[in-house]
Amino acid sequence: MKIVCGKDYKEMSRKAANIISAQIILKENCVLGLATGSTPIGTYDQLVEWYEKGDLDFSQVSTLNLDEYRGLAADHPQSYRYFMNNQLFKRVNIDISRTHVPDGLEPDADKACADYNNIIHEMGGIDLQLLGLGHNGHIGFNEPGIAFETETHCVDLTETTMKANKRFFEGDEQVPSQAYTMGIKTIMQAKKILVVVSGEDKADIVKRAFAGPVTPEVPASVLQLHNDVTIIGDEAALSKILA
Ligand code: F6R
Repeated sequence: MKIVCGKDYKEMSRKAANIISAQIILKENCVLGLATGSTPIGTYDQLVEWYEKGDLDFSQVSTLNLDEYRGLAADHPQSYRYFMNNQLFKRVNIDISRTHVPDGLEPDADKACADYNNIIHEMGGIDLQLLGLGHNGHIGFNEPGIAFETETHCVDLTETTMKANKRFFEGDEQVPSQAYTMGIKTIMQAKKILVVVSGEDKADIVKRAFAGPVTPEVPASVLQLHNDVTIIGDEAALSKILA
């Protein structure tokens, strides 16, 4: 496990974008596993900047997103498909038909998950998986207690996660209580994994996940068993493991 420190969010984002762009340059038809949430926004902005400069070409790249809220349509402003379209896909020359997010509107959870697993298998797995880290150690929506052997599945979100997501929903709008998520098994099968973490509020969970015991109670701790993981954080997020 490699730990890379950027002095602040911007530098952390640039370092993460560097690794993703190296992957695209080395393998133009690579499969990128992507994450939503606040942390990767700066990374996506940096990739867009390099694309606009002419340094990156996404035309052959395929993507697989980690997760989607069950019940949200692709055009719902809080859906993860909407987020990806606006933060990255519409801003670069990616072929939108090569971008994949679980289908939040598929009411049959078994079908939604089986369909997504099939897509992942047909694409031959993930070359580089980008991950954020939840305050409770979740990756994707794999919440504490999840079995490490899972593929795409439907999850009930924990109170903590629903609370953290509330900021993205306005007024009385219901925060979704379930999501479709890629499983730990699939994440662990990615050839390379890149975790981005930012802010002091992540320092404790960074320590538990990457310097503590491997346990399903901290899902991200399983990443310690992967042979090609890079954690990129700003000084605040890494303060308790680099001190
Ligand atoms: C997003 C995802 C989540 C987030 C995590 C951290 O697709 O799967 O696991 O990566 O909740 O979110 P932020 O970056 O908002 O702190």
